[in-house]
Amino acid sequence: MSLYVYVEPDDERRHRWTAEFQSIGGTMLKDMTELEAYLSRYPENMLVVIGAQVDLDEALMFTAYQRLQRPLIGVVLIRPTVEPDVVLRCLQSGIREIVAEDDEEELRAATVRSVDLSKALSTTLRGSAEQAPYARVVTVFAGKGGCGRSVVAVNLAVALAGGGRRVLLVDLDLQFGDVAMMMKLSPERSIAGGLAMAGRLDEAGLRSIVTAWRNGLDTLLAPASPAEGEQVRREFVVELLDVARPLYDFIVVDTPAVVTDQVLAALDMSDWYVPIVTPDLPTLKTVRLTSEMFDLLDYPRDKRLLVFNRSNTLVGLSHAEVELAVGMPFAVLAPSSRDVPVSVNQGEPIVMTDPLHPFSRAMRQLADRCTGVQTVIEEPRRGMFGLRKKKVS
Ligand SMILES: Nc1ncnc2c1ncn2[C@@H]1O[C@H](COP(=O)(O)OP(=O)(O)OP(=O)(O)O)[C@@H](O)[C@H]1O
Ligand SMILES: [Mg+2]
Repeated sequence: MSLYVYVEPDDERRHRWTAEFQSIGGTMLKDMTELEAYLSRYPENMLVVIGAQVDLDEALMFTAYQRLQRPLIGVVLIRPTVEPDVVLRCLQSGIREIVAEDDEEELRAATVRSVDLSKALSTTLRGSAEQAPYARVVTVFAGKGGCGRSVVAVNLAVALAGGGRRVLLVDLDLQFGDVAMMMKLSPERSIAGGLAMAGRLDEAGLRSIVTAWRNGLDTLLAPASPAEGEQVRREFVVELLDVARPLYDFIVVDTPAVVTDQVLAALDMSDWYVPIVTPDLPTLKTVRLTSEMFDLLDYPRDKRLLVFNRSNTLVGLSHAEVELAVGMPFAVLAPSSRDVPVSVNQGEPIVMTDPLHPFSRAMRQLADRCTGVQTVIEEPRRGMFGLRKKKVS
């Protein structure tokens, strides 16, 4: 892993810079696709140098997106020449430094300035994050079994955990929870371990029952035996979430097919509601009923992020018809692919193992919506990071 990358499509120039860049612990990449894959694996990166041959619009779009997602990354852009109108557009998108291709001394100086700034920002950001995290709760649900709730909850949690955020994934499918299996975790610790602390759970108590995964992602697993799950009261769910909130940036909740009392407790505390719908009539009907129930409960409509799972397997219904049947617009379209069950069987979330996969892109878009970054809904493979390629003016 390195904290600095340089994307240089020009073979001759890339070879010439490799030794110097590697000597500061940097990594050379060939194009923006490699960069996308690289950053999803190493979100703590601080410097991205972009070579002169990379399309300007692509570089600007990348930077504008990263500015919100990963503000620590500084982008240094190399151009054949530095023109005033280009400088203006670069500043608007958040590029830190623009350097002319033949000015190698300036390139070195610009990268040093940018890294210094990232380090300073990192201290400030970490400081403020330590002062006041207060997790936003995201509950994934559907009125039917097998829609993909657990796959979405797991991959959403992994996607949210990028960029230094702390995330807790709670498996509230207390009878048949799948999170442990999908993340290859052994369920030695579970929610059941907290039952004896009900009514007086504190931070240390919570920490003693969570199972850490990777990348700042913790899980609170379902009990190994369904009988223990029955003992979890609604009040205990509220207590768990209350204690966890100051410790995490996001809490993602996976739920069973039926809206139990425990699920209602989580829904009541949610900032985002993520219903999953698949293209079959019974599921559409249950999601519509759930949506009507939400209206009665006064859960805000603009906080519902509808995931259309297996969206490419539409049988006789158009997207518009599905939206109409459900009574709300889609937030993301997640395609069906056999790579999804393969990842489930391997216990490796696909967002981690194949970040460029269309399903992974959909999950990152969903994460973006939860973090407040607005992306345009894509048909697959349109441009960098699933963003629609558009002119930045
Ligand atoms: N987009 C997809 N493409 C292909 N397979 C999928 C997709 N989404 C989910 N699946 C598969 O469907 C099955 C059910 O998914 P998952 O367990 O996430 O659903 P669930 O709603 O949590 O189900 P349960 O009711 O069992 O809790 C899994 O085998 C999963 O791999
Ligand atoms: Mg499930």
